[in-house]
Amino acid sequence: MAVTSPERRVWWNEPVERVEMIWIAVALLWGLFMFFFMIAWHFIGGQNLSTEAYRVVPSVYQNKVDEFAQKYQVGDESGTPIVRPPAGVDIYLLGRLWQWWPVLQLEKGQSYRLHLSSADWQHGFSLQPTNINIQVHPGYEHVIVLTPTEAGEFGIICNEFCGIGHHTMTGKIIVVDSKAEAK
Ligand code: CUA
Repeated sequence: MAVTSPERRVWWNEPVERVEMIWIAVALLWGLFMFFFMIAWHFIGGQNLSTEAYRVVPSVYQNKVDEFAQKYQVGDESGTPIVRPPAGVDIYLLGRLWQWWPVLQLEKGQSYRLHLSSADWQHGFSLQPTNINIQVHPGYEHVIVLTPTEAGEFGIICNEFCGIGHHTMTGKIIVVDSKAEAK
């Protein structure tokens, strides 16, 4: 708040400086370039994922995930089922306040169609330590073709603020290499 009232009250009628105009133009052009380059990133550097998206009723999606988890459950981790689907099938992951459900156990080198949706709120699927980030909305079902290339345990965090438990919203994908195990 100014102590004294401004000398000229019509401040918005100021002419825009030339230099300022140049910066506005540069920022606009750069923004447009980045916007259209999003398409290129599907092909260059494997940055943008090419996903399919469908509309879905959250309760219907939740039923599909429950059914999937029941069918292929092989274990349990503190109340969350560990699910090991056969290679190549459609696999389901549900984001909700505040967890990624269930724990998936996948085979290295096999491709899966990973379905992603939310039961309640907007969440951010972030697979650690890779640079895979997907916005997850209730009402929309994303399908991503996923082929794990490394064995190990991969954490999933939520990178979209979703309330008081946001920082506790985690999940897990376990990738096993059964060819290596058999040796
Ligand atoms: Cu879910 Cu943050």
